[in-house]
Amino acid sequence: MLPTRPLGTTGPAVSALGLGCMGMSALYGEADRAESLATLHAALEAGVTLLDTGDFYGMGHNELLIGEALRTAPAALRERALTSVKFGALRTVEGGFTGYDGRPAAVKNFAAYSLQRLGTDHIDVYRIARVDPDVPIEETVGAIAELVEAGHVRHIGLSEVGADTLRRAAAVAPIADLQIEYSLVSRGIEEKILPVARELGIGVTAYGVLSRGLISGHFTRDRALAPGDFRGMSPRFQGENLHRNLDLVDRLRAVAETKGVSVAQTAIAWVLAQGDDIVPLVGARTRTRLTEALGALDVPLDAADLAAIEEAVPAGAAAGERYPAAQMAHLDSEH
Ligand SMILES: NC(=O)c1ccc[n+]([C@@H]2O[C@H](COP(=O)([O-])OP(=O)(O)OC[C@H]3O[C@@H](n4cnc5c(N)ncnc54)[C@H](OP(=O)(O)O)[C@@H]3O)[C@@H](O)[C@H]2O)c1
Repeated sequence: MLPTRPLGTTGPAVSALGLGCMGMSALYGEADRAESLATLHAALEAGVTLLDTGDFYGMGHNELLIGEALRTAPAALRERALTSVKFGALRTVEGGFTGYDGRPAAVKNFAAYSLQRLGTDHIDVYRIARVDPDVPIEETVGAIAELVEAGHVRHIGLSEVGADTLRRAAAVAPIADLQIEYSLVSRGIEEKILPVARELGIGVTAYGVLSRGLISGHFTRDRALAPGDFRGMSPRFQGENLHRNLDLVDRLRAVAETKGVSVAQTAIAWVLAQGDDIVPLVGARTRTRLTEALGALDVPLDAADLAAIEEAVPAGAAAGERYPAAQMAHLDSEH
């Protein structure tokens, strides 16, 4: 069994690391289906209970994959698995993103399709991926609250919202967690958002804890990326920015070596050490990466370790924004 952490004051207890399944269907190049299923099963067997997805990851592919993994897992593991699903993104046939839809009728439509693809009778945590600028958050959250009332959803989450939106949403219904990017190189939540989440009893599921592999210790300066790989467009992976960011990784590696652990484990352990109300999602797509990520739970960091890590990678040291400009514009958390 793995240690657990509460998802806010109203959410369920979940494994201290969750599995983010996005890369098994989208955004990081081709994934191996059999290995993805094996990774999902290995995660459940190891005690991971939180599986994070979005209905738009591979346009339903990721939910179907999780549905298959749950269906073919031993009943005891299936029963303790918790699904965290994002919705709202509008896609084109070619795979583009054209906006977000948070209207109440759309929320219920998205949920109906997700339940069908997952093959479950409820979703454990349901959240809109990005705030729909044309629909007040109260209406979107109100619609999820009705799904909770009807038994189709257990808890309400949020994704990439700022402090004001957290307050407005929490005034409508209990919010279990905020899913938001947080890592050694993405520390934007520390000033305003995290304190408000804590004040409201809202947990954090942190994504991008390895900055999409950038600070995993496995990313190299000459790595070729497949067409459509998010990292081919991400400012942090471009030219001089990539070189500067990988210099930071070399500094982090030096600290990791003093502890006899890997770079990825150090980066994940750093997020784990920021508070028991934070649950890192790890985007492992293979059993090897999963085993490495879970090893972070055995890396306690004391004050001296944290100071050495901070010195190696100071807040704000990363070169480049965490998303391309057009996607930054959709982030309520950055306004
Ligand atoms: N709410 C939101 O807006 C939002 C946005 C993005 C993601 N998410 C969620 O958060 C999850 C995690 O995000 P992410 O995948 O971008 O984050 P990540 O964990 O920072 O990056 C994952 C990538 O890191 C590389 N990696 C290298 N060593 C690893 C290791 N030991 N364990 C895991 N990955 C390792 C892998 O790339 P290679 O396989 O290429 O080596 C993997 O694809 C997603 O799956 C998704 O569920 C949410």
